[in-house]
Amino acid sequence: MAKIGNYRMKSLSYLNKYFVKYKWRFLLGILFVISQNYFKVKMPDFTGGIIDELIEGVSSDNIMQYGFTVGLIYFGLSLASGFFLFLQRQTIIIMSRYIEFDLKNEIYSQYQRLGYTFYKKNSTGDLMNRISEDVSKVRMYLGPSLMYTINLVVLTVMVVWNMVNINGYLTIFVLIPLPIMSFLIYRVSSKMNKLSTHVQEEQSKMSTQAQEYFSGIRVVKAYGRNKEVSGKFDESADRYKNKNMKLVLVNALFMPTIFMLIGFSTLLCIYLGGIFFGQGDITPGDILTFIFYVNLLTWPFASIGWVTSLVQRASASQTRINEFLKEEAEIKNTCSEPFDFQGTIEFKNVSFTYTSSGIRAIKNLSFKIKNGETLGIVGRTGSGKSTILALLMRQVEPNSGEILIDGIPLNQINLDDFRSSTGIVPQDVFLFSDTIRNNIAFGSTEDLTDKELEEVTKKAHVYHNIMEFEDKFDTQLGERGVNLSGGQKQRISIARALIRKPSLLLLDDCLSSVDTETEEIILKHLKESQIDSSIIVSHRISSIRHAHRVIVIDDGAKTEEGSHDELLKLNGRYAEIYHKQLDELGSD
Ligand SMILES: Nc1ncnc2c1ncn2[C@@H]1O[C@H](COP(=O)(O)OP(=O)(O)OP(=O)(O)O)[C@@H](O)[C@H]1O
Ligand SMILES: [Mg+2]
Repeated sequence: MAKIGNYRMKSLSYLNKYFVKYKWRFLLGILFVISQNYFKVKMPDFTGGIIDELIEGVSSDNIMQYGFTVGLIYFGLSLASGFFLFLQRQTIIIMSRYIEFDLKNEIYSQYQRLGYTFYKKNSTGDLMNRISEDVSKVRMYLGPSLMYTINLVVLTVMVVWNMVNINGYLTIFVLIPLPIMSFLIYRVSSKMNKLSTHVQEEQSKMSTQAQEYFSGIRVVKAYGRNKEVSGKFDESADRYKNKNMKLVLVNALFMPTIFMLIGFSTLLCIYLGGIFFGQGDITPGDILTFIFYVNLLTWPFASIGWVTSLVQRASASQTRINEFLKEEAEIKNTCSEPFDFQGTIEFKNVSFTYTSSGIRAIKNLSFKIKNGETLGIVGRTGSGKSTILALLMRQVEPNSGEILIDGIPLNQINLDDFRSSTGIVPQDVFLFSDTIRNNIAFGSTEDLTDKELEEVTKKAHVYHNIMEFEDKFDTQLGERGVNLSGGQKQRISIARALIRKPSLLLLDDCLSSVDTETEEIILKHLKESQIDSSIIVSHRISSIRHAHRVIVIDDGAKTEEGSHDELLKLNGRYAEIYHKQLDELGSD
């Protein structure tokens, strides 16, 4: 076991704190293992004794009575052993589930602690899968592996003690095949793990491929690529089949190996036992007891190999989990004082470069928003508009310059409070495969009444759409439900932001898929809401023409600033975009 690799085994020591937490449950579990094995080991002992008594002869008038008593005792022993086996599983396996739960919670809170940049660097879906897979592997160590190991130790001590008491030499001989079996099983199960990982990988490749082809079926057909696509899929399916065949072969060799080794041990018992009997060292009952004992030890020894590979996998998984838990959140909320946003925002010479791409997304940017004001931001795609919002939400931090909220530097205020007083409608709307109600409620911590839902959805001008669905607010969205249009999604997303009654509202190009009329209605509603300040990012002048102030961003820098009318008079970039969009409207 020491060979497992010290550095990796160490990773599992992270879990010791949980054993301490659940120490009573754990100790109770060990007690149950001992009780269970005590009765289990008594059974062969008892049987052997009975055989010897029978050989010596029991008087025939007592035989019925004798048989009944023997049967009753044997039944009692197996019942007791079974009962404790049940308790043993109940305590140890349940403990492992508790620890799994704790560990998942720990990982989950780390997920929330880590910032935006971490998720930009790592694909979220990937992480989720990896973590949940890793945790379940660790649980196998906490539950089954631990239970089998304790079981093995307890049982071996008891059995070997009894065997040596009967005959020391015989004990040594019959036990020789067992470690060999453990080793073989270890090799076989490592091989099997490796193969099954390959099989899983191939399977996931295949299903991703199928999924992509299905969702892109229109494109595939439109370009007439059916043949190539099916060909590629066939290849993948073929690889999957071949890998599975290999796994089946190794699997098939597994059980025969075990049976052969048990058979060998039993053979030794009978053969050597016979010799010892001839010398008068041992009784026939003892030989039977030995055979029983060897069989008792078989599974625990077989499990050594299996457990070793489980522990190896668990420690590899725990290493990854530890790395993830150690990952430092680069943006920390250092302030716990409550913060109540009043509505003033100021950017002072802010510059920001994305470290991952080296792109200088914001250059020396300054602007101010007073309480009650709306700021409009326009600019080409990639000019840095979304980055401004990310900076304001402190998803990323400026390299230089300062962001002041109500006159206080952003990194000195209570971030949780600030974020929860903000309603943000991101550029790429994300809705869960859940009901409309739950999707909107996501932005709120309280239970929502239909009245509140009605209010916000009316403001977002999506209420009438929802009422057309049979299940109204309980309409299921996503794959197994209704598919919304882009504009409907955007408006649900606006309702989600409004339900938190935000004092700061950030709209990132979230009216791009609604027509100008609807846009106007929504903007009017927003204006009437109790929102202290808002920022509206848009490609369309119509979204921001009523803003108190508009800034034009080009390549991360502010090029123009002023009200709609002022900017038109300036006759610069803003005016240019405006006239272009007017022309487009006119040509419709
Ligand atoms: N997470 C990121 N990592 C690295 N570079 C990024 C990241 N996000 C944006 N950028 C880069 O920063 C620049 C500004 O991007 P940003 O998303 O702020 O533009 P935008 O004005 O919102 O564009 P759009 O109108 O298309 O939404 C772009 O050049 C973009 O490639
Ligand atoms: Mg953007």
